[in-house]
Amino acid sequence: MTNFQGKVVLITGASTGIGAALARELAKQGASLVLVARNAEKLATLAAELDRTGQNILVAPGDVTQDGDLERAVAQARDRFGKIDIAIANAGFGVKGNLEALTVEDYRKQFETNIFGVLRTIYATLDDLKKLRAVWRSWGA
Ligand SMILES: NC(=O)c1ccc[n+]([C@@H]2O[C@H](COP(=O)([O-])OP(=O)(O)OC[C@H]3O[C@@H](n4cnc5c(N)ncnc54)[C@H](OP(=O)(O)O)[C@@H]3O)[C@@H](O)[C@H]2O)c1
Repeated sequence: MTNFQGKVVLITGASTGIGAALARELAKQGASLVLVARNAEKLATLAAELDRTGQNILVAPGDVTQDGDLERAVAQARDRFGKIDIAIANAGFGVKGNLEALTVEDYRKQFETNIFGVLRTIYATLDDLKKLRAVWRSWGA
């Protein structure tokens, strides 16, 4: 895996599962992290585990289905770290259960998180990611 020393990585859905596992691995690789999920307590526990100094991890509780939450997290990240290099739009869930017991509303909630939540993450971080693309271009990549 690439070395992430000096990189700032925003992860949505960082409180459990794949997001938390990514946070652990990226912290090991030297990245600074912006942890986003709804459960602030779980994020704080993870942040304390990953960085006792609190310097390299920003806990930014937020809900990807809510307009404004990601923009707030991104603004905090820019204040703390000055940039975001990588955004991992991981927050999401699967609708489980018997089709007959489920409703369109259940799937609508999933789309609001897994689809529009990803789009909110992309739009909120786009300025930072575009800056990075400009740097890559200047390197001829
Ligand atoms: N595990 C698999 O086999 C598998 C397969 C295919 C796809 N995926 C996808 O991979 C991603 C991670 O899966 P996982 O297995 O790690 O799931 P998980 O353990 O349930 O973790 C989901 C994460 O998303 C967060 N989240 C859910 N709704 C959110 C919202 N509205 N706003 C912000 N954060 C939200 C949860 O935190 P809070 O509750 O604290 O907000 C949690 O941190 C999901 O998008 C899932 O659909 C997983």
